[in-house]
Amino acid sequence: MGRWTLDDIHWDRFDPSKLDPEIVRIVKTASLVEYNGGAYAHHLCRIFHDEPDFQRAARHWGEEEIQHGRALARWAALADPSYDFVTAFDRFQSGYRVDFDRDVSRRGSRSGEMIARCMVEIGTSSYYSALRDGVREPVLKEICRHIAADEIRHYRLFHRNLMRCVECEPIGLWKRLRVAFGRIAEAQDDELAYAYYAANETASRYDRRRYTRAYARRAFALYREHHVRHIVALVFKAVDLPPRGRLFQAAGFLAWRALRFRAIRLTKAAA
Ligand SMILES: [Fe+2]
Ligand SMILES: [Fe+2]
Repeated sequence: MGRWTLDDIHWDRFDPSKLDPEIVRIVKTASLVEYNGGAYAHHLCRIFHDEPDFQRAARHWGEEEIQHGRALARWAALADPSYDFVTAFDRFQSGYRVDFDRDVSRRGSRSGEMIARCMVEIGTSSYYSALRDGVREPVLKEICRHIAADEIRHYRLFHRNLMRCVECEPIGLWKRLRVAFGRIAEAQDDELAYAYYAANETASRYDRRRYTRAYARRAFALYREHHVRHIVALVFKAVDLPPRGRLFQAAGFLAWRALRFRAIRLTKAAA
C-alpha cells in the first residue's frame, strides 16, 4: 500500500461552499485515469519480465495510482452525490483501450519506456501541485498534496531505473527527446478526453476535440509560472540536459508562454 490511505484524509472538513463545478468535472476525469493504473503496472511487468525487483516496485506503483483514483472518486462523490464511479469507470474502459498486449516497449527499449514513464509522472506531479494550489475546497487540497508527493516519488523511481537501464541500453539525446516529446504529445490522445466524457457526459456522443478542449480549458488555467518551470527542469533531467543555462531559461519561458496562450484561447473560445 501507499504511504497514506483514504483513512488519513480529513473527510469531515469537506466544505461544499468552496466547490467549483468545473473542478468537480476534471476531478471525476482524473479518478478514472488514475484508477486504470493497474493496467499500466501489468504492462511494465511484462516489459521487465526478467527483473523481479523492478516488477515489485512497478506493482507497488500501480497500487498507489489506483489509490489516487479511489481518493479522487470518493471526493467527487461528496461533491456530487449523483456521481456513479463504477458505472463511469465501466464506460471509460469499454470505450478506451491501450494496447498492452506486448512484451516489448513501443518506445523501442526499456530506457525509452522509462523516459515515457518519467514524462507521465512529470505531468501528474505538476498537475496535482497546480490543482492543490488552485482550489479552495480543503479536502481536495489535502488529497492533491498527498498525490503530488506520490507522483514526484514515482518520477524518481522511474528516473533511477532509467539510469540503470541506460547502462545496458544506451539512448542518445535525440532519441530521448523524440520519446519525451512523443509522450507529451500523446496527452492529446483519447485517454483524458474519453475519461472526461465517460465521467461527465451520458447523453451526447463522444467527440475527441470537444472533450479534449473541455478538460484542457479548466486544467490549463490552474498552472502558474513556477509549475511550468518545474516541469521543464524535470524534463531536462530526464533527457539528460543540464537544468540550468540559457537553453533551460529559454525553454522555461517558451513553455510558460505557450501554455498561457493556449489557456487564454480556450477560455475565449468557450465564452
Ligand atoms: Fe497518480
Ligand atoms: Fe504516478
